[in-house]
Amino acid sequence: MEHGTNPYSPGAGRKPTELVGRDQTLDRWKSSLQRIENGRDARSFCLYGLRGVGKTVLLAEFSREAKKHEWIVVKFEAGAGQTLRERLSLELHQVLADFARPGAKERMLKAFKTLASFKTTFDPNSGNFSFGIDLSDQPGGGADSGNLESDMFKLVHDVSSAAQDLGLGFTLLVDEAQDLEEEELAVLAAVTHRAGQEGWAFLAAVAGLPSLPRLFSEAKSYTERLFDYHEIRELPLEDARLALTSPAASEGIGWEDSARDYVINAASGYPYYIQQFGHDSWIAADSDPISLQDAQQGVEFGQRELDGGFFRSRWDRATTKEKEYLRAVAAEGNNSAMSSEVASRMGRKIESLGPARANLISKGIIYAPEHGVVAFTVPGMVEFINRQTDE
Ligand SMILES: Nc1ncnc2c1ncn2[C@@H]1O[C@H](COP(=O)(O)OP(=O)(O)OP(=O)(O)O)[C@@H](O)[C@H]1O
Ligand SMILES: [Mg+2]
Repeated sequence: MEHGTNPYSPGAGRKPTELVGRDQTLDRWKSSLQRIENGRDARSFCLYGLRGVGKTVLLAEFSREAKKHEWIVVKFEAGAGQTLRERLSLELHQVLADFARPGAKERMLKAFKTLASFKTTFDPNSGNFSFGIDLSDQPGGGADSGNLESDMFKLVHDVSSAAQDLGLGFTLLVDEAQDLEEEELAVLAAVTHRAGQEGWAFLAAVAGLPSLPRLFSEAKSYTERLFDYHEIRELPLEDARLALTSPAASEGIGWEDSARDYVINAASGYPYYIQQFGHDSWIAADSDPISLQDAQQGVEFGQRELDGGFFRSRWDRATTKEKEYLRAVAAEGNNSAMSSEVASRMGRKIESLGPARANLISKGIIYAPEHGVVAFTVPGMVEFINRQTDE
């Protein structure tokens, strides 16, 4: 059917026509925003799960919801060569600029000044930046000690109280949080902890790979109780069906039951694959409803598309040695394997494989669900690797 009306959205962070199966998490988020506005405490969120389950689109929904409440919302992806301090400063600067208007309240002016000082540690000229307002007689500043923890305390405190003054809150949303440095994770935990203790109008939500809760607890001891943890998983059957059929329905197109079940089964309920196979079945079909034959063709195309992009981009990032390691993990037949079993399968000492393992983790291809275990970050990677005969 027509490409222009294709209602499926395969791709990293692409907003689906309908965000299915995440109502519980979203409702909790909404009530946390409400609690903060009512001057009550609320726990920050940690969303974790494999690649393609929908963490980024859910975090975008968190952002949208907070913006509806007119909160101060800062959202970014960790990593990509920038520190937490840099990203936070730059994003917050843009957001606060909207509040720089004549008659801005005193606490907002204080927050401007504190942000300017926070930036000076990596951008010496930022002390002069003033949002076009003379801040020289304002209190604030002092977030330039260079100690990330105490500087972040000041900044988050001052921005939260400026928000509170307006009856709002401040939320910090960090995607790919497993790429934060250990110190940054510890600081984020400490700030969140203090905000809760002292009743600041602040909520954080972090999203990342399944290793994220463990990374937090290694960085700071009390994080088990600090966050509201939500594991974002593949969709259960009814939700998976809805994720597949509702985009087509929005265009007045149906799915034959057998076609629908074929796709859901091939996608194992994973949102990314549902979108991909839905997208390609739509292309294969030329009339309503989408038939089993269309679905079979769609899955075949979609699989090729995924092999050439989603999977291949990860595979190609691995060196020849690292690929050997990945094959040995895949040979266990599960999504995960003991590091010791991988080593013995390769006839190597476990220590000698440390660098390959560390590189593959930093490339985001595998993660360590627990000590001594490695697992693929992408569902279906085992089958993909077993399909690779050429290298
Ligand atoms: N609840 C959902 N219902 C329907 N489609 C969804 C849902 N969640 C995600 N998707 C679709 O799945 C795909 C992947 O979503 P997203 O990029 O948010 O995943 P992710 O968990 O952030 O993956 P990664 O770890 O690679 O960043 C997108 O095409 C998106 O449209
Ligand atoms: Mg993502």
